[in-house]
Amino acid sequence: MDLLFNGRTAIITGAGAGIGREYALEFARRGANVVVNDLGGSRDGSGVNSSAADLVVEEIRAAGGQAAANHDNVATEEGGRAIVATAMEAFGGVDVLVNNAGIIRDKNFLKMTVEEWDAVISVHLRGAYCVTRPALEVMRNRNYGRIIMTTSTSGLFGNFGQSNYGAAKMGVVGLMNVLKVENKKYDIHFNAVAPTAASRMTAEIFPPNIAERLHPKFNVPMVIYLCHEGCAENGSIFAMGAGWYARTEIVCGKGLCIGDGRRDIPAEEIRERFAEISSMDGAKNVTNVETFSYMSPLFS
Ligand code: NAI
Repeated sequence: MDLLFNGRTAIITGAGAGIGREYALEFARRGANVVVNDLGGSRDGSGVNSSAADLVVEEIRAAGGQAAANHDNVATEEGGRAIVATAMEAFGGVDVLVNNAGIIRDKNFLKMTVEEWDAVISVHLRGAYCVTRPALEVMRNRNYGRIIMTTSTSGLFGNFGQSNYGAAKMGVVGLMNVLKVENKKYDIHFNAVAPTAASRMTAEIFPPNIAERLHPKFNVPMVIYLCHEGCAENGSIFAMGAGWYARTEIVCGKGLCIGDGRRDIPAEEIRERFAEISSMDGAKNVTNVETFSYMSPLFS
């Protein structure tokens, strides 16, 4: 075991249960001071219960690790600031932030209320903003940081009944893409993970024979690696579960230039050339709009 975090402080949001709890235990086992944040509500985000975070802190301390509990809501500005303040007060810094807290309120889109929409967007997307902002301020002052966004295959690829969740989960990918560009001259890396686990969140989804192999712990090694100071990865997305790990990319096809920026293009011409326009032969991962050069032949 040489991916160690001695002297580093890691904030894990939503670490009172499920995947977040496993992250917290492993960061602590590898020497990190861990802030265990959890509001302790139910799966749909209602209610609070401070014992969720407290129990994980007790477990870490009982094993000889360092941890501090925080019970704030990631989805508020005050909550985000208080989570980072817990790290500063208990351990004097923040080196790692894993934005993991989450809720679901699944419904077919036309049956979904605006409250169900807002609640899910709020915890996942606003929550990632509210905690990342004060954490990044600390990291920028010290020129070091590792931040994880938690996305989902429901947003990356689509899943029935999760329009609020899918939208929020792609939102954090957009947030990561911009922050990785804005912070590229500092040693602060942003990556996104799309985990899969049998947890409270997925309680009715996986049949028992599959659930038993989807222990949340299998998501931990990737996050540990991405958050280590020796890992240069920045701006990537990894899907994972049950011991499977895969890079996932947003790619753009080579496309087809049929115009010159002056001639009007009738829709019929798109129909005619649609197969060539749609071709993914030679598609590339676009990591930054500055390197997005496919249109440039038009302007040369
Ligand atoms: P979980 O429901 O077991 O744990 C989520 C934790 O977040 C709970 O302990 C909850 O109290 C906490 N939390 C919720 N709202 C909070 C808030 N406003 N502030 C602070 N804490 C809050 O869920 P699980 O499965 O461990 O999910 C962890 C993350 O992974 C979530 O972001 C989820 O969307 C994501 N994910 C999980 C998948 C899975 O297969 N379990 C699939 C794809 C993504």
